[in-house]
Amino acid sequence: MARIPKELVDQIIQTADIVEVVGDFVQLKRKGQNLWAPCPFHNEKSPSFSVNPAKGLYKCFGCGKAGGVVQFVMDVEGTSYVEALKYLAKKYAITIQEEEKTPQQQQEQNERDSQFIVSNWTKDHYHRLLQNTEEGMSVGYGYLKERGLNLATIQTFELGYSLDQWDDLLKSATAAGYELKYLEKTGLVVKREDDQGHDTGRRYDRFRGRVMFPIHNISGRVVGFGARTLKRDDKMAKYLNSPESEIYHKSDVLYGLFQARQAIRQEEVCYLVEGYLDVLSLYQGGIKNVVASSGTSLTEGQIRLIKRYSDNVTVLYDGDAAGIKASLRGTDLLLEGGLNVRVVLFPDGDDPDSYIRKVGDQRFAEYIEQQSQDFITFKTTLVARDAAGDPVKKAEAIRQVLTSIAKVPDAIKRQVFLQQTSAAFGIDEQVLITEYNKLVKPAGAPRPAEGGAPSGGNGGSSGGRPAPPVAATRALTAEEEAEAAMYGAFEPGAPAAASPAASTEADEDVAQVDLLKTCEREVLRLLVLYAAREVDTDVSVAQYLLGQLEEEPFKTPLYAELWALCREELLAGRFPEARQLGQHQRADIRLLVSDLATERYDISPNWRVKEIYVFNEVDLPKVACDNAVLRLNKCHVQRELNRRLETLRQPLLDDAELFENLRAIKDLKQLDNQLAALLGTVIPRGA
Ligand code: CTP
Ligand code: MN
Repeated sequence: MARIPKELVDQIIQTADIVEVVGDFVQLKRKGQNLWAPCPFHNEKSPSFSVNPAKGLYKCFGCGKAGGVVQFVMDVEGTSYVEALKYLAKKYAITIQEEEKTPQQQQEQNERDSQFIVSNWTKDHYHRLLQNTEEGMSVGYGYLKERGLNLATIQTFELGYSLDQWDDLLKSATAAGYELKYLEKTGLVVKREDDQGHDTGRRYDRFRGRVMFPIHNISGRVVGFGARTLKRDDKMAKYLNSPESEIYHKSDVLYGLFQARQAIRQEEVCYLVEGYLDVLSLYQGGIKNVVASSGTSLTEGQIRLIKRYSDNVTVLYDGDAAGIKASLRGTDLLLEGGLNVRVVLFPDGDDPDSYIRKVGDQRFAEYIEQQSQDFITFKTTLVARDAAGDPVKKAEAIRQVLTSIAKVPDAIKRQVFLQQTSAAFGIDEQVLITEYNKLVKPAGAPRPAEGGAPSGGNGGSSGGRPAPPVAATRALTAEEEAEAAMYGAFEPGAPAAASPAASTEADEDVAQVDLLKTCEREVLRLLVLYAAREVDTDVSVAQYLLGQLEEEPFKTPLYAELWALCREELLAGRFPEARQLGQHQRADIRLLVSDLATERYDISPNWRVKEIYVFNEVDLPKVACDNAVLRLNKCHVQRELNRRLETLRQPLLDDAELFENLRAIKDLKQLDNQLAALLGTVIPRGA
C-alpha cells in the first residue's frame, strides 16, 4: 500500500503559504496583523473571513469555518485530505513520491498522465486555431460571436476550433512530439477501419470543422471535448463528444463545474441545465453557478459532485413537454441524493440559452427567481393537470407524486411533502400515508415511520434501510475511496485504518466537537480575561456568566474543571482571574489559562474594524458575554437536534417514539432559529 510519507506531508504544509493559497479564491485585504475577505464559504458582503499568516490559520467569524491550509483546500474544493495535499503539492511543485507503487500502478499513472498532457495540449491547440487562423476566426469565432458569446467567456471556458481537415491535429500533435497512442486513447484521433472492421492502419481526427468545448474535471484538467458542428446538415450529429477513456468518465463529470464551483458554494444553489451553450450564456449573463449534464441523463456520480458544493439544485428545463418528461427521472435521482430540488420551466420552445438572450440578464434572473418552485409542487401541478376530472388518472397521478416523495431521504421533509400533497389533491393525509406505505413497502423504500438521513447537509448514509443509491453529503466517489485506501491517509483525527465510510462519520463528529470546544473556549476566555469587569452596576462578568449559563455548561472535561474552579472562586467571593488561575498547581490548567488569556489578543483589535463585528469586547463586555453564551447554547441545541435526527434513522421506532422525536425536532429547530435571531441582534452591526 502506498501512502504519502509523513515527512512529505509536513513539507507540503510548511511550504504552502496560507495567504497565497487562500488568495487564489478570495481577495484578501490586510488590516492589522490579519488579512480579511468576504467568506468563500457563505454569502456575505462585508468580510468576516480572516487569515492569520503568522499562525497559518483561517477563520470565518460569520459561519465559523476555520482551520489550516490543508483544511482550507478541503473546504473550498470539497476534496479529501489526500486530494488537498496533492493540490498543494502541485501548486508548490513538490513531487509526491508515492512509496511502494508497483510497476503496474506506476505504468497506469504514467498512462493517465500522458493522456492528461495530450488533452491539455490539444485544448491549447484548438484555442490557438480559433484565434490565430483565418478559418478559426471567420468560421469558429464568427459563430460564437453570433451566439452572443464574448472573448472573456471564450477564454474562461477555453473554447476552441478544429480545422475542417482530416489530420490537422494528428499532424500537429505528432510533430510536437506527442505519441499517437495517447491521441487514440483519448479518442482525439480515430482508427480507420475497412468494411469488415479491420484496422486499415490509417488514422484521422475525430473533430473537424467544429467549435470545441473542452470538458474539465474539478481540478481544471481537460478530460475530453464536446464539439458542435457549424454546418446545417441533418445527417451530421450536431454535437460530437469525446468517448469514455481512462481519464474521461462521463458519469463523473459535469460541464462547467470547474468554473462554477465557487459560485455554487457562495450562492448556495446549483443551476442545472442541459447544454454547453446554456452554461456559457448564463455564466456570461452573471449566473455563474451553472452546470450542464451535457444532454445525457444525470448520474449518481454527477449528483455526488454537486453535493460537494451545495444541497440545493434548481433544474432549468426546456419548455417543451418531451423535455420535461425526460428529465423527471433524473430529478427523482436528485431527490434520492438528498438534494433540495427546485424547478424552473421556460416558455415552450425556449431553452435557458435562448431565453436569456431574448429577455436579457436582468429579467432572466428575475424570471428564475420568481418561477422556481419546489419539485414536488411542480410535479403535483404537472400530473394533476393531466388528470383533471378523471378519478382513475388522478389516483395514478397521486401515486406518481408519492413515488417521488419516497425518494427523499429526509423523514421530516417527506412528512412535509405528504402534507402538501394531501392538500393539493384534497385527499385526507392519513389515506395518503396508507397509500404511500403500500407503494413503498415492496421495494423496501423508507416508510414515513422509518427514518431517513437528517437534512441540512450533515447526514451520514442511512442506517436502517437499504442504502440509497446516492450516499449523503461528502461521501467519497469510488475513485476517491480507492485512492484514500491506497494512501492509507485519512483526515486527521479519524482512526487511521478505518474504512472510508467510517471515517466520514467520524469527521462529522470531529467537526461538531470542534465547534463545541470553540464555543466553550470563548466563554472561558471572557471569564478569565474580564472576570472582575462590570457588565452592569455591581454585576461582574463572572457573576453575569454564572447567571446566564446552564447547570453544566461545559462538556469538554478540562474546560468543565476550569469552570468548576472558577465557580468556587466566585462563590467564595473572589474573582477567577487569569493571574491567580495561571498559578494553579496543575500544569494543564495553568497552560489552558495562559492560552485563554493570550488567545486572539492579536485579533481582538480587528473586531473594531467597521465591517467586522462592530463591537469592542473591552468596552462592551456584556455584548461579548451574551454573544458567547448564545453561541454556546446554540451549539448545545444543534447537538441535541443532531442526536434526535440520528434517532430518526433507527428502523425500529414505533409511532409514538417517532412523533415524540418529530415534535422535539420541531421545537429544537424553533429554538435554534430564535437563538440565531438573538445572535443577530446581539451584535450591533454598522454602529
Ligand atoms: N448533445 C450531445 N449530442 C447531440 C445532441 C446534444 O451531446 N447529438 C448534448 C450537448 O451537450 C448539448 C445538449 O445535449 O449541449 C443539449 O442539446 P440540444 O438542446 O440539442 O442543443 P443546444 O444546447 O440547444 O445546442 P445549440 O443551442 O447549439 O443548438
Ligand atoms: Mn440551444
